[in-house]
Amino acid sequence: MLIRPRRNRKSQSVRNMVEETRLSVKDFIFPMFLIDGINQKIEVASMPGIYRYSLDLMLGEIEACMKLGIMAFDIFPAYPDDKKDKYATESFNPETFYLKAIHKIKSTFPEAVVMTDVAMDPYSSDGHDGLVENGKILNDETLEILGKMSLAQAQAGADILGPSDMMDGRVGYIRSVLDQNGFTEVSIMSYTAKYASAFYGPFRDALDSAPKMGDKKTYQMDPANYREALIEAELDTNEGADFLMVKPALAYLDIIRLLKDNSNLPIAAYNVSGEYAMVKAASQKGWLDGERAMLESLLSIKRAGANLILSYFAKEYATLVK
Ligand code: PBG
Repeated sequence: MLIRPRRNRKSQSVRNMVEETRLSVKDFIFPMFLIDGINQKIEVASMPGIYRYSLDLMLGEIEACMKLGIMAFDIFPAYPDDKKDKYATESFNPETFYLKAIHKIKSTFPEAVVMTDVAMDPYSSDGHDGLVENGKILNDETLEILGKMSLAQAQAGADILGPSDMMDGRVGYIRSVLDQNGFTEVSIMSYTAKYASAFYGPFRDALDSAPKMGDKKTYQMDPANYREALIEAELDTNEGADFLMVKPALAYLDIIRLLKDNSNLPIAAYNVSGEYAMVKAASQKGWLDGERAMLESLLSIKRAGANLILSYFAKEYATLVK
């Protein structure tokens, strides 16, 4: 035999030399759940190790993450039902706690990158990402609300907005609202290929944001579809997105690779709540080695082509490699 691939696997040092993919703490964006109040830290039942924090405790958590090298945070607020309404008005109420929190985080840690989610669901009494009328999700009427939400988030100091709503035309609409108001430096990380997925379950528990009626299949993509992701990518690119995102990650590694090969923009992937919960649950039962499963999952997302990974494992990963 002339060719023996095992020679390149003969020791850890040799394996290190031929390693094609390397994770870094710089790859990560850490999604965090925010609640109103003080001194609150409540674990999400379906996401062991992940908490909903009040702002005071979140600041400490962000500081701890930054010491580990994680610099980017995606803040998701949880609102009680009495703050939700049909038009998601709380999302752009200047007095609301999440906007004040973003301002406080940015003024406390100017070097942190703060990302926010643009979609109606955490603030909507219907639990949908868009405006619901007679059981239908209205597209263009939703854009106006997303525009107000985006402007409020930019005014609060957000660095990157993440439209996760999947309405048509939203990236261009948000871009023009930002630009008209002088926020040309605020970036957009578009949820480009966001699939109608079962893997968002624990996130909807964390925010109590499950749809009250129906599902999200008229706006989120069908898991059966591959080529359609290119239509979304082309639109987002032409509408001015700065990053394209694929979500979820693990069941959509082919989509990550597809966008990587067809775009010159940075590609992000969202290792979602259900993907985190699966690893945690199996490892708590002793059915698999949670640490190795975490590392392998994250590595596979990067190998597929992701430049950035949004993951609830971010802090655990950073702690492990410190
Ligand atoms: C809101 C939003 C969702 C997630 C991120 N932004 C939920 C959904 O679309 O239903 C899911 C994140 C996760 O599961 O970790 N539109």
